[in-house]
Formats: sequence, C-alpha cells, structure tokens
Amino acid sequence: MEPKRAAAEKAVAYIHDGMVVGLGTGTTAYWAIQQIGKRVQEGLHIRAIATSSHSESLARELGIPIVSFSEIDGIDLTIDGADEVDLAWNVTKGGGGALLREKIVASASKRLVIIVDESKLAPQLGRFPLPVEIVKFGHEWTLKRLASLGCQATLRTFSSGDGPYITDNGNYIADCAFGRITNPQILHEQINQIPGVVDNGLFIGMAGSVVVGYRDGSVRELE
Ligand code: A5P
Repeated sequence: MEPKRAAAEKAVAYIHDGMVVGLGTGTTAYWAIQQIGKRVQEGLHIRAIATSSHSESLARELGIPIVSFSEIDGIDLTIDGADEVDLAWNVTKGGGGALLREKIVASASKRLVIIVDESKLAPQLGRFPLPVEIVKFGHEWTLKRLASLGCQATLRTFSSGDGPYITDNGNYIADCAFGRITNPQILHEQINQIPGVVDNGLFIGMAGSVVVGYRDGSVRELE
C-alpha cells in the first residue's frame, strides 16, 4: 500500500463512536478522509470539522457529518498531514495553503495525529519553505519584513497562472525559504509579530502522535 495511505489508515483506527474529529487537508489527509468515509458508511457515528473547503466537500460527498464550532465543545482527535516533521515533532504545515484553519482546528483538539510518509522526516525544519498566511493589504511590505528575518519570501501564485493564490480565508500565502530553522519557537514568535501576518505554518509542540508510512510498506507510530 502507498505509504501515505498506510499512515492514514493506521491513524483512522484511533477514531471511535461519538468522537468529534478534525479532518486535515492534503494528499495524505485525503486517504484519512476516504477511510473515515468508509467507516461511516459501515456504521461509525462521528461528527467532523474540516480544515479546508476542499476537505469539507470531500467529507460531505462521502457522507461524513460536518459540524461547525458553534455545535461542539472541542475536538477529540484531528488527523492531518505535514510538510516536515523534526526530531522533537515540531511540524511545518501549509504546503496546501490551509495552515490557518489547520492550526485553529489543531489548537481545539485534545489530540493531533500527524500522518506522513518517511520523506517528511527531517533532523531540522527549513528545507521546505515555510508557508505564512498574510493579508492582502500591504503584502509587498509584509514580504520585505519576512525577508528581513533571513529568508527568501515569495508570494504564492496559482499554478494555472491566475495570479496570487487565495486561501479559504481570502488571504495570500508567502512561502519563506529559510534553508534551516535553528529555533522554531523564536522564529514563530518573530513572524507572528509582523503586522499583516495572520499566522505561520510552524506547529510547535502540538503533535501528540506522528504516524509514518515507509516505502517498504511498513507503518510506525514514532515514540
Ligand atoms: C495543507 O495546507 C498542508 O498543511 C498539508 O497538510 C501538508 O502540506 C501536507 O500535504 P500532503 O499530505 O499533500 O503532503
């Protein structure tokens, strides 16, 4: 089985009847949502909150009941992908542009399970450019302020050539290539202090479990 799918299916086994479940975004979370849909069709009773309009549509198609924050008092378990995971389980997210909703959902969750294939494991974060959600107004200046922290900051564009990428929240994404992030906690604070920044893709100390799918077909939860 494909490593991303194997990791996703192992994580979905942690879901039980009655839970409120956070649904991640991306190609790994896709497999988790598919598997949750299958279990719901087989009789699993859960309610779910999605981290993007894309994941919400997929969940609805599969018959997964979607609720809003006004209907729940917290989330039991969220399953989501990542772009990089370091040895301390600090995580970079937002490659798919959903980092803000992902962070809100993760912060409301009792447990965040990160699902990745082995290519996402890194001794140190930074090889993957850090996504930062920024407001449109003054974004040229915000990009300069981000670059002053030691990265190459690029405004994300749609691959179709249709101009700047727009998030589900109506904002832009800056992709910040640092190369190496030596202190994720300090960088997180420095970035979020810049006016115009909504949030960044560093998830520090939030992952409760990391489930990894390997090319040889095995899947392991990190300890
Ligand atoms: C979405 O914004 C991201 O945070 C994804 O969870 C992350 O980019 C991992 O995506 P893949 O599972 O597609 O690699």
